[in-house]
Amino acid sequence: MDALQCIATRHSCRKFADKEVSDETIKELISYTKNAPTWKNVQEVRYYAVKNDEIKKRIAEEAVLGFVYNTKTISRAPVLMVETVVKGISGYEKDGTPTTPQDSHWQSFDAGISAGTLELAAFAMGLGSVIMGIYDDSIVKGILDIPENETVSGLIAVGWPAAEGEGPEKKDVDEILSFRE
Ligand SMILES: Cc1cc2nc3c(=O)[nH]c(=O)nc-3n(C[C@H](O)[C@H](O)[C@H](O)COP(=O)(O)O)c2cc1C
Repeated sequence: MDALQCIATRHSCRKFADKEVSDETIKELISYTKNAPTWKNVQEVRYYAVKNDEIKKRIAEEAVLGFVYNTKTISRAPVLMVETVVKGISGYEKDGTPTTPQDSHWQSFDAGISAGTLELAAFAMGLGSVIMGIYDDSIVKGILDIPENETVSGLIAVGWPAAEGEGPEKKDVDEILSFRE
């Protein structure tokens, strides 16, 4: 699969085959993901790979704000990638003052690029994935003992897809692109 075909056909996956994702496969996935750009190359994005069923069950049942779709997706996924950023680095000067009026926007921006890169790399590797934004940051941090100076940017379920699928319809280029001349 070439890069443009991957970008054009990637879609989220919420149902996974009952097949393990090895630690080596997870490491390979992050070896591509880590190439994503970050503000001034600060590389503040981190990943926690959760394969343990009991821990996944706790996140699925206690941390998704009652959103049952995410409970099901996390329960079905062989791996839950918990993405965090080390706070106060991306978009900030060394003394901690924000470089731009957007304040903490840039650490979220970096996390978004990284998650998107992970999803594309996963798709190219034959893996399925879905980003989940409906969760409680402090509950996830508590369950996984994530350091205080990190914030959870997203949960990403990863596994071998149960079936071939397609994504939803997307807007036409003309609906999202304007030229200013
Ligand atoms: C920031 C963000 C948060 C999302 N949160 C959830 C979520 O909590 N649960 C879920 O099932 N999908 C979630 N999604 C996946 C979107 O629903 C999905 O990307 C969208 O429907 C487009 O489908 P596609 O990824 O197949 O193109 C999220 C996606 C993004 C980028």
